Amino acid sequence: MRNNTIYLNGEFLPLAEARVSVLDRGFIFGDGVYEVIPCYGRQPFRLTEHLQRLQHSLDAIKLANPLNATGWKELLLQLMERCDADDQSLYLQITRGTASRDHGFPANTPPTVFAMSNPLKAPAPALLERGASAITLDDIRWRYCHIKAISLLPNVLLRQQALEADADEAILLQDGEATEGAASNLFIVKEGTLITPPKDNRLLPGITRDLVLELASSADIPCLEQSISAAELRDADEIWLTSSTKEILPVTRLDDAATGTGALGPLWRRMHQHYQQYKQHLRNGGETDN
Ligand code: PDD
Repeated sequence: MRNNTIYLNGEFLPLAEARVSVLDRGFIFGDGVYEVIPCYGRQPFRLTEHLQRLQHSLDAIKLANPLNATGWKELLLQLMERCDADDQSLYLQITRGTASRDHGFPANTPPTVFAMSNPLKAPAPALLERGASAITLDDIRWRYCHIKAISLLPNVLLRQQALEADADEAILLQDGEATEGAASNLFIVKEGTLITPPKDNRLLPGITRDLVLELASSADIPCLEQSISAAELRDADEIWLTSSTKEILPVTRLDDAATGTGALGPLWRRMHQHYQQYKQHLRNGGETDN
């Protein structure tokens, strides 16, 4: 397998040879942003949208984009060629570079640009058969959750708390409203309508979230972008979590109570089918928006 070639600051090199300074601001301050881009049959999924979100994250932390869209596409395609798997997860990260430790931005410092690709495993069939479990937790993160920042310590702590409670994910509550998961976006189904919180600074604008809304609207499933209270979450007929790696994950248990009937929901089954068809279409070279 040739899955250990990575990209670092202009070079493709074996993972074992890649070196970043201990003074890198990513290491010292978590001062950087990232993207995770799935690829199906070596076709990147919604690449344009991922690169747009990357630009928004970079703008929000006042860091210049080291590459234009064509440069990113070429880099990522070259990285994909160096990985043996047909389905891959591309990871890219940009930090504010290496400088003596000082909170203020360093002058004239090139960013650190890192990218890697790993084989992408589809969500485990057993998980999709039984459904996932989630617990609700207070959202202890900061007020810029729309930035895909590498400083993920709160997300790490929240996910770990869920795992230690034998749950698969934490669903986060802010002022009585459910916003998203520790590393996923949130949907509920109530009486046939799909509801997801609107995009704002309390959640990451998920690329999968947007695709789910598009697929639902093409399938004439009523959708609303509206806040979800903790009570509405508990009373939901179905709960789904979405992300580039989880796809659309049905949640059948929340805080030790069954979600709806406790079985996989009928709307989830429909949307799961649509999502798998979309992936297949992409594998066949059918996505037109790259
Ligand atoms: N995380 N919200 C948060 C906090 C996330 O970290 C993620 C994804 C999402 C879903 O976004 P998307 O559909 O674009 O993957 C929502 C990635 C997968 C990660 O950190 O590994």
